[in-house]
Amino acid sequence: MSYLTHLQCTTCGTRLPADSPQINICADGGILEACYDLDQIRRDVSKESIASGPSSLWRYGALLPVEDLANRVSLSEGWTPMLSAPALGATVGCSNLYIKDEGRNPSGTFKDRGAAVAVSRMRELGITTIAHNSSGNAAGSWGLYAARAGLRCVNLVPDDVLPSSLQQSVLAGAQTVMLTDQWKFSGALVADAVKTHGWFNIGTLKEPYRVEGKKTMGYEICEQLGWKLPDAVVYPTGGGLGAIAIYKGFRELMALGWVKEGPLPKLIVSQYEGCAPIVRAFQQGKDRAEIWENLDVLPGGLKSTTPPGDRAVLEILRDTGGGAYTATNDESIGAAGEIVRTEGVFPCPESATTLVALKKALTDGIVDGKATVVLLSTGSGLKSIDVFPTPEIAKTNANTPLTST
Ligand SMILES: Cc1ncc(COP(=O)(O)O)c(C=O)c1O
Repeated sequence: MSYLTHLQCTTCGTRLPADSPQINICADGGILEACYDLDQIRRDVSKESIASGPSSLWRYGALLPVEDLANRVSLSEGWTPMLSAPALGATVGCSNLYIKDEGRNPSGTFKDRGAAVAVSRMRELGITTIAHNSSGNAAGSWGLYAARAGLRCVNLVPDDVLPSSLQQSVLAGAQTVMLTDQWKFSGALVADAVKTHGWFNIGTLKEPYRVEGKKTMGYEICEQLGWKLPDAVVYPTGGGLGAIAIYKGFRELMALGWVKEGPLPKLIVSQYEGCAPIVRAFQQGKDRAEIWENLDVLPGGLKSTTPPGDRAVLEILRDTGGGAYTATNDESIGAAGEIVRTEGVFPCPESATTLVALKKALTDGIVDGKATVVLLSTGSGLKSIDVFPTPEIAKTNANTPLTST
């Protein structure tokens, strides 16, 4: 059973029923949020009952929008490890550092959280075809979950899409189309196609349920810290959905009384230098981000030239006293290597931007060296193998003894 009551826009307050498919039509950067009967949840559910639930995001089923257990579409996503990172922390001067390793999810990225919950709810609401533009990771993920749910999925991807994501999408049977020129028009292309063909648009923040899946990152961070909020969260930001979702999760836990009332963790946003509309808007003190014209990023995520979550992310940044920083492509590849060498966690380059941002936030004094900080490693480096430079390695033959270097 779900305690979902209705949907409500965060800026204009428009209230919509949750028992039929709804899309976000707010032109003002508002988010159509799923709302729950938190008082009833407080009476019926406890931290202890959650702890005895499944080792997946479905342990938070009461706080998710899916009514009927039979409609859950799962590949066992979520409940990813929160690894302490003392060696990396020591090198950057952060004594309480954690890495939330989202690369352990079924498709290799955190996108699976949004896909699992939203596909489940969409199937429950009778939606049959879903469509979106995706730089790749979401395309791969939604392809897999749509296949498992028996839904039809249309993925519009860019021409530098990661081979891993492309294979996931195509092998899963999704209708996969490559946009060969300007990616900034991908959203408009999907919006037109959705109208023409009667598909359901699952693009970033177009509907309310992806956020519901991804807010479980916020729940897990707190539960894994012993039902405590961290002091700061460093998040690699594209469209903004993940950051918004994590903070929805934090707020709900506070409203339920499951974590102590107090200031929300500082949000530290990281973006590639070649697509940093949110960092630029934050530095200029603006409420909204302007379109980023000259996209120059590595293949993979963080390609959102007009982030749909700009207003909400900028609000969180300001409300929490956070910071927003860029990382060059080379810095990101270097930072991925640093994380692997020190902690053995293999992040995708998008995730490694968080380490670059953390170093800058420590230097600026935005984050204190003793603070409890969580780096979101949103995807596995295995998804991005082709993006890493080919390593130079020693070669030998069977007649030559190995030497120690
Ligand atoms: C690996 C990875 N991390 C982070 C993001 C950021 O997504 P969002 O800001 O929409 O949560 C993306 C997508 O762009 C991604 O593919």
